[in-house]
Amino acid sequence: MISKDTIERVFSTLQIEEVIGDFVQLKRSGANYKGLSPFSDEKTPSFMVSPAKGIWKDFSSGKGGNAVTFVMEIEHCSYPEAIRYIARKYNIDIEETEVSPQVKEAAQERDSLYIVTEYAASWFKEQMHSTSAGRNIALSYFRSRDINDAMIERFALGYCPDAWDSFTQNAIAAGYKKEYLEKTGLTIFREDGKAMDRFRSRVIFPIHTFSGRIAGFGGRTMQSEKTIAKYLNSPESDIYHKSDILYGIYQSKNAIIKQDSCYLVEGYMDVISLHQSGIENVVASSGTSLTEGQIRQIKRLTQNITVLYDGDAAGIRASFRGIDMLLSAGMNVRVLSFPDGDDPDSFARKHTATELKEYLEGQRTDFIDFKARMLLDEAQGDPILKSRLVRDIVVSISKISDHIKRELYIKQCSRIMDVSEASLFRELSQIDHHNAREYQQAALRAANREAAAARLKVAREGENTREEDTYIRRLEEDIISILLNHTHLPIHMEEVIDTVDENGKPQQEKHSYDTTVVEEVIDSLSADGISFTDSTLSIVYNGIKSAYDAGEEISHHLFLTSDNTDVITAVSDIMADPPALHNWNKVGVDVIDFKYIAHTYTRDLILRYRVVMVDKMIKETEKEISQLQGEGKHDEELIKKLMMLKNISTRLNKELGGRVV
Ligand code: CTP
Ligand code: MN
Repeated sequence: MISKDTIERVFSTLQIEEVIGDFVQLKRSGANYKGLSPFSDEKTPSFMVSPAKGIWKDFSSGKGGNAVTFVMEIEHCSYPEAIRYIARKYNIDIEETEVSPQVKEAAQERDSLYIVTEYAASWFKEQMHSTSAGRNIALSYFRSRDINDAMIERFALGYCPDAWDSFTQNAIAAGYKKEYLEKTGLTIFREDGKAMDRFRSRVIFPIHTFSGRIAGFGGRTMQSEKTIAKYLNSPESDIYHKSDILYGIYQSKNAIIKQDSCYLVEGYMDVISLHQSGIENVVASSGTSLTEGQIRQIKRLTQNITVLYDGDAAGIRASFRGIDMLLSAGMNVRVLSFPDGDDPDSFARKHTATELKEYLEGQRTDFIDFKARMLLDEAQGDPILKSRLVRDIVVSISKISDHIKRELYIKQCSRIMDVSEASLFRELSQIDHHNAREYQQAALRAANREAAAARLKVAREGENTREEDTYIRRLEEDIISILLNHTHLPIHMEEVIDTVDENGKPQQEKHSYDTTVVEEVIDSLSADGISFTDSTLSIVYNGIKSAYDAGEEISHHLFLTSDNTDVITAVSDIMADPPALHNWNKVGVDVIDFKYIAHTYTRDLILRYRVVMVDKMIKETEKEISQLQGEGKHDEELIKKLMMLKNISTRLNKELGGRVV
């Protein structure tokens, strides 16, 4: 039993935020700390720690308590285990009130198993360092693989001698019960009662839990015969659940928190080798495919993960399912592969720490991007295969719950795989029943957008004036569209006005005002005496303007009963495809609610429209003037008009300048 004094010392030494900080990424929030609940899958932090009160509260699960109960909850351990854990963290010696075989027997079963594994780990370590066989065989093996002493110590590496049962005999002599030796899998008892050390003649990689206890072992043979399994691992037990094991989590968790990112590798040697090269935020899945339990442990520490592959394509494909799980968990996933035949361990050994770091940081690619390119390579122009692979990538995208991210990925894949956004959205709506309606609409919008772009491209290929006319028509459509769809949306506008100061020097003044979409559009177009060029749209615009002037309600219903079928068609087309936002969607902004960009959008649209219209008027006036000149005539009024238009054009272009056209 742990003495009362020890328990008191533990409580007076511990800092609750330090204890919890080993498990949860905490951010300061006033006098408290906040983080993501480790007990649920939440995306916004509702986990709170109060250093002043020494308590924590998890609002998502309703749990709460002090530092010790936190460790009990998170490690699923007993009260004494939690005290021991915190004592170890702060280097507090544990004073036991009595140590006897009876006490060992009475302790919790799990505790007993841990006591056995921890004894075994220290015995294996001692065998490696203090026996000549250990030094000649095991230590020299690690040295031959360039593992330095610091890493041998950090990962508590060891050796189990090449004898039938030397470990078991020693353990029994030291008072450990056969029952626990068997349950931890350290000893195999045969039917004839003979004992066998499971890990005999292997180098030992102890496997630590999140909090640093030893759950089990990996034992590697040093022989290269194919008939001998390269690794043997502990069997399932109350303390060793293969599916929850993340090798290196204990040694790496602080670096993972600090760098807010984690590398995932396959093997024990990869973790150790990367640590030796200064990459300390790394864990291994130990050769199995990722599990929910493993993901949860990583997610407690960071949302950013980079999966490291060794070169072979089959292995990469096999990992895709695990990666979809990471996406479902809301993680940001990047991947990176090593050159042919290299794994992280061999690559790290061939390069300096700086080169390795540069490679990792320079080569990691977003997973969806990586997968899209890889599948595209595989399809090699085979359309049937390609459509299957496209579905495959959309399945991955459907795992992401963040909608803005999803839309950005759709755009990216459309570009990489040369498939229309519309069909990707349609695919997504089929996979994602939950959001089907929404994605159907996104598909419709994307299709319209793409059709408009194609129309524009066709027009561009035609003559110059036709291109300009198409562009103008498109702007006019957009203007009608915001007038009908966002009529009275309030917007805050800013403009620069040319004035003169008291000395008559020209200066510019910034001026801002609150208005609505309809007010802004109609006022600014009237100011330049602009009327629509497209005859159908001109009818619609004038209809809107007279309703506005008369204070009547403005809506597309005004036109749907028109006897002009062109008007009906134009208005329904526009209603089916809300503002194209053509310059915004390139940067992925159209996923944002229109109201947030309404002012910038409206201003840009009107400016663009005024610029082309004024330029058009300039060209017409110039034509008129030169025609008159040809007839030997001269019109002072026309020249004045031209000067004025040119002034307006300069000013508008200046206003438009600096923004993306
Ligand atoms: N593994 C296992 N049993 C095996 C082979 C592999 O449990 N028979 C697991 C181990 O966790 C191993 C990981 O799969 O670390 C990756 O396997 P591998 O790449 O072969 O091992 P490395 O750690 O790279 O070991 P080494 O470099 O010594 O070959
Ligand atoms: Mn290896």
